[in-house]
Amino acid sequence: MKKDLIFLGIETSCDETAAAVVKKTVKGKIKILSNIISSQHKVHKKFGGVVPELAARTHSEKIDYIIKNALLKSKCSFNQIDGIAATAGPGLLVCLMIGMTAGKTVANFFKKPFYGVNHLEGHALTIGLNKPVKFPYLLLLISGGHSQFLSIEGIGKYKRLGTTIDDALGETFDKTAKILGIKFPGGPMIETYAKKGNPYTFDLPKPILHRSGCNLSFAGLKTAILNISKKIKTKQDRYNLASSFQNTINEILKVKCKKAFEMFMKSNNALAEFNFVVSGGVASNQSIRKNLKEISSIAKFNVHFPPPELCTDNAAMIALAGLLNHEIGTKPDIDLYSQPRWPLDEKAPFMKGAGLVI
Ligand code: KG4
Ligand code: ZN
Repeated sequence: MKKDLIFLGIETSCDETAAAVVKKTVKGKIKILSNIISSQHKVHKKFGGVVPELAARTHSEKIDYIIKNALLKSKCSFNQIDGIAATAGPGLLVCLMIGMTAGKTVANFFKKPFYGVNHLEGHALTIGLNKPVKFPYLLLLISGGHSQFLSIEGIGKYKRLGTTIDDALGETFDKTAKILGIKFPGGPMIETYAKKGNPYTFDLPKPILHRSGCNLSFAGLKTAILNISKKIKTKQDRYNLASSFQNTINEILKVKCKKAFEMFMKSNNALAEFNFVVSGGVASNQSIRKNLKEISSIAKFNVHFPPPELCTDNAAMIALAGLLNHEIGTKPDIDLYSQPRWPLDEKAPFMKGAGLVI
């Protein structure tokens, strides 16, 4: 007999210690029962970036409390939980191991199935926490560590259409912020700076704009920002540079999304409607959202964004990914190792450094 499914999710891949409880009712409705996130921004601020050893120490200090709190808030006992999912990768190995060990321990103790979830699968399925979007859909995942276009064809069926060949978009926002003297984590502050500047002040490069399909490249743009930053003097110059940077990103996304739309439509030409989901930390940027809404409307794609708090790292998306895998009969695996590198589409070619294909 079918019943409600309740999953505990744990996320410790980088600098957020998070646990959440998510329920899928018999009728198919998905509810977040609790979603606890403890950010480590204060810990890493003085170093200007995430220090893996400090991140791991902070996770290990907090993880028990965060899990207990998630259970408490959800009003569920461990016995009512149907399974446990923890991020197994990609991410910082020492950090992943904290969440994985906690998850496996609890799963073992309470005799629950354990799932090691791909963090990117979490981002790919997050939208389901907000509203149902039918498979297949086109996904633009823009986070601190990844920038990819993927065709999401079902649970466990992910086809990469394009990826960054160097830096991730979130990383580019963070580095630009650092160059402009904004304290870590600066990415979100670029948006505030950009509002005060003129987006047409600086003509910045748009690497591989009309080449290499919907693959992306941001390293050249970052270098240009660094070079210009050495010549500018006033605060207004910095606002103008942030604004020109954000505008350039929007211009790049305009061209690359169009390419991704074409690719997606070509392989899904029988679909009655096309859905486009945008997720990952950068998807909380309001200017990027506005731009992507305009692009999607022209291409006749329905665009969907998770709420900003679910765009950035959280454990609700990990709980959901575990739950949906459990539901389709994916085998639980308590012996799974933490995996610092773990592409979502394992068949897609490696696109960085020596493996670069343009
Ligand atoms: O998805 P996420 O929380 O972590 C990863 O999986 O990487 O994304 C974090 C990234 C950071 O690089 C952060 O600067 C960026 O998302 N980010 C933003 C904004 N909010 C977060 N970038 C631009 N504008 C924002 N408002
Ligand atoms: Zn993430």
